[in-house]
Amino acid sequence: MDNHFPEDFWWGASSSAFQIEGAWDEDGKGMTVADYNSFKKSEVQADTKVASDFYHHYEEDISLMKELGMKTYRFSISWARIIPDGDGEINQKGIDFYNKIIDLLLEKDIIPFITLYHFDLPYALAEKYNGWESRECVYAFERFAKTCYEVFGDRVKHWQVNNEQNLMVRVNERMNMYNVSEKDAERVRAQMDYHMFVAHALATNACHDMIPGSKIGPAVSSTKTYPASNKPMDIWAAEMNDNFKTNYALDMYCYGDYPGYYKEYLKKAEISPVRKPEDEEILKKAKPDLIAVNYYRTLVASYLSEDEEHTYGTKVNEIDYDLYGYFKIEKNAHLKSSKYGAQIDPMGLRLVLNDYYNRYRLPLIITENGLGTPDELTEDGKVHDDYRIDYLRDHIAACNDAIADGVELIGYCPWAVIDILSSHQGFKKRYGFIYVNREDHDLKDLARIRKDSFYFYQKVIENNGLTKY
Ligand code: BG6
Repeated sequence: MDNHFPEDFWWGASSSAFQIEGAWDEDGKGMTVADYNSFKKSEVQADTKVASDFYHHYEEDISLMKELGMKTYRFSISWARIIPDGDGEINQKGIDFYNKIIDLLLEKDIIPFITLYHFDLPYALAEKYNGWESRECVYAFERFAKTCYEVFGDRVKHWQVNNEQNLMVRVNERMNMYNVSEKDAERVRAQMDYHMFVAHALATNACHDMIPGSKIGPAVSSTKTYPASNKPMDIWAAEMNDNFKTNYALDMYCYGDYPGYYKEYLKKAEISPVRKPEDEEILKKAKPDLIAVNYYRTLVASYLSEDEEHTYGTKVNEIDYDLYGYFKIEKNAHLKSSKYGAQIDPMGLRLVLNDYYNRYRLPLIITENGLGTPDELTEDGKVHDDYRIDYLRDHIAACNDAIADGVELIGYCPWAVIDILSSHQGFKKRYGFIYVNREDHDLKDLARIRKDSFYFYQKVIENNGLTKY
């Protein structure tokens, strides 16, 4: 197979604020819901207080990004660093911090690609408004986005509004801090989701208005679901699983409305969100310039009929939930799993890229893809992560195949540039090209150590793809 990566392909890597920055309350930063959640679990795993300590190591880390050869760096801004309580005073020290990052990246010819909101809502907004349930949160986000465009927009042209809204609304942990009864949870979730779409549209429109030549789009947690058998109902179930978990959101971002099957579900389940008449125009105007794809694994689904106990639309589980009347998640016997259960499937990436490109005809960029696993620092002070190299090689080959299929894939930013605080497993589960010398409850010296995968990816970038397919 030939190499199909275009010359100007964006080889990069990713991170998010609460997972690398640390300095959780330094220089005026407010608490976020991500901090709050991590503190609740801090007896069993690391929390956001120090994380990878990027806040104090950013010069060294950006030098390593340059050494790696990165053309772009996808990272997020902490809303609560810029506006500590979400909708009050602006914190100049927060702006100063991101100015330093942006300027240093540009000095090193690394294009900053910024996510405005990666799971870390300012906690004050959860307290004041019950977060996204309220329309106030939408306006607070619009103001935050406009503030970022105003202060960074002269240098930053590439933006993502939020990270994985479609996954965020499915995670119970992220709902627990809100004042919601169990009975009302699905209605509130649907309202929050809708408000995030309106906020997404307002931020997209403002970006286009305020930053000439800007490019902005959503980042979705992608899903590709295989049918458990060739029974027509299983095939339908697999399709509905993708529709309910990702495609309904992509349709909303790209076409400004929910697809019919989703409206029907909301109506029948009696959880249709309250909309304002002016939203229609806002949502329809907001056309993304690109779609960012986060890809880790594939799923399998079979049809799940209602029964006496479970009526239409009853949901079981959270992230990979089953839905009565629609689908049930199964395991794929043909795929290997990571230590933490993600079924590894490079072909799934090729399928997802083809699928999204054929549906929306927008340029795609991968902003997350990677293997979360424990790494061992050997006595010679190295990390031999050949398993990660295998994973990356196979997924890069899948990108090459997708480009050959005709997909306009413009970049690949694996997760993560450096070891980050994993949302579920702290520092036990690592993703980076660069090892951070700390454990969950022992900060050690936080030294940065290039893993074997660092040198592998450096070669990939140098060669604009793999040397052999
Ligand atoms: C993605 C998130 O869904 O999954 C990241 O955008 C996250 O923030 C990644 O780190 C991996 O999940 P986890 O739980 O292993 O950190």
